[in-house]
Amino acid sequence: MKIVGFHAGHDSSYGILEDGIPILHNEIERFNRQKNTKEDSLKYFLDTKENTDFKYLATHRTCGVRGNNYRNSFDRCVGIAENNGGKHFIIGHHQAHAANAFFTSDFEEALIFTIDGGGIDRKDGELILDNGLIDDHKGDNAVITGTTFWYGKKNKLTPLDMITHKKLNLGKDWALCTSNIFGLGTVNDKRGDQAGTVMGMAALGNPDKYISYFENVLTIGLLDGDTDKSNRIDYGFLNKEANISEQNKFDIAASLQKETERIIKSILTPYIEKYKPKNLCLSGGVSLNCVSVGKMLDWFPGINIYCDPIPYDAGLSLGAPRYVYHHVLGNPRIYNNPKNKSSYLGKTYDEKTVRNEIDKVKEKVVIENTDDDFVVDLLTKDNNVISVYGGGSESGRRALGNRSILADPRSTDMKDVINEKVKHRQWFRPFAPSVLRDDVGEWFVHDIDSPYMSFCLKFKEGMGDKVPAVLHFNGTARLQTVAEKDNEWYYNFIKKFKEKTGIPMLLNTSFNDREPIVETPEHAINCFLRTNIDYLYFRDFGILVRKS
Ligand SMILES: [Fe+2]
Repeated sequence: MKIVGFHAGHDSSYGILEDGIPILHNEIERFNRQKNTKEDSLKYFLDTKENTDFKYLATHRTCGVRGNNYRNSFDRCVGIAENNGGKHFIIGHHQAHAANAFFTSDFEEALIFTIDGGGIDRKDGELILDNGLIDDHKGDNAVITGTTFWYGKKNKLTPLDMITHKKLNLGKDWALCTSNIFGLGTVNDKRGDQAGTVMGMAALGNPDKYISYFENVLTIGLLDGDTDKSNRIDYGFLNKEANISEQNKFDIAASLQKETERIIKSILTPYIEKYKPKNLCLSGGVSLNCVSVGKMLDWFPGINIYCDPIPYDAGLSLGAPRYVYHHVLGNPRIYNNPKNKSSYLGKTYDEKTVRNEIDKVKEKVVIENTDDDFVVDLLTKDNNVISVYGGGSESGRRALGNRSILADPRSTDMKDVINEKVKHRQWFRPFAPSVLRDDVGEWFVHDIDSPYMSFCLKFKEGMGDKVPAVLHFNGTARLQTVAEKDNEWYYNFIKKFKEKTGIPMLLNTSFNDREPIVETPEHAINCFLRTNIDYLYFRDFGILVRKS
């Protein structure tokens, strides 16, 4: 039995669950090549071959089908569900975030915390009726919220608290600071979400220098139509300060990060004290703040923390159908099944497609048949930067080995080399390591799972110096832990690198250059030819491509 989920706001996507397990999740930005795109994701779904045999359709409330937006595609999908004896369900925004976190975790019981830039939910957690008024956000129970708490037990989610966007909206704060102070992009403009750049800057700043400009003004005075400016962040002043020097930018970012952490800790603490959970699940776009998430391990020792693989809005198209499958239809939970929590949910491409695409540019490239041993060897030489392509693409913000650019983390100048050859990012932005799961405890201060790069952790004393290319200025790294069950190919590949070098990790950055992560073999070849990446390795078929 299939359930299809849609999200058509920023970070549009669709997902398909079969017997509760995702078989496909596509983020539309990967196809139309526009970051954080708002699109008719239903239309993309209707073009797939899986489009007629689903029984249920699940959207979250602000799914972009309001009014006449994408109405044709939406009506067609509802028609298909009804033809198959099923129906359309509308789930709340945070209800879908919470469901994606909890139902992909292996916890039988957990406290769930979602935090983002706002969405529509029902206070009682009941389903929103599809009564033909899906553009009506004003029902008695409707609440606009940026922060919610839920309790998950087996296949049920119970709402504990919903904090309205008027009281707390860190997602919107960060979007406004990112654009108004630093002049960087957000999910709502073409440059894409650059909040991560601000988080990267924070590591180089003095958090106390501008703290008084953020204390007690985040989340209030930021509402549309609010005329009281007394409690508002002074964007004009901070923007002027930011433009004086790069160090000022770092100091402002550090202050914003410090106040954000204080708020997150202070709102979570009472719930931790009241419910005394063994397990905590996190979702919502603000949980991409891996620095705050890493610190939760110190704030709440002894609690297991699990992060949603797709915590921002692209994950809603899997969260909504998961809620329907478990909570509404009463199906049991799925535990310890790597497919249920996989982030490798994109389409796979066969060898013929790959060879056809290479053939189109044959005068520009040389290809040879090779294997992992040879490519590992290349990685240890000449500061080579190698893109790898294979399996289904990663859902979520991070490339995790299937659409990745890899390099030797031991190299002292590798950050600059990668930036010159391909990424063109600001010099202060860190690159992340993919670390064998078994070796995490030897290298980092916490021995945890972080398969989706959700946690920023400190290296143990002296260890970071061995891998300068993935060491951030404050002695941390945003690590991806790699176990065999997560990604068998990647695990064995890193293991070969360890056998050769003694280092159980690789530098891993997404395969792209100021654009969404590459999706198709054609995108991969285009990005490879456009940049100075040294080799492109189609690892499923042992094909190594270099420029002629
Ligand atoms: Fe959200």
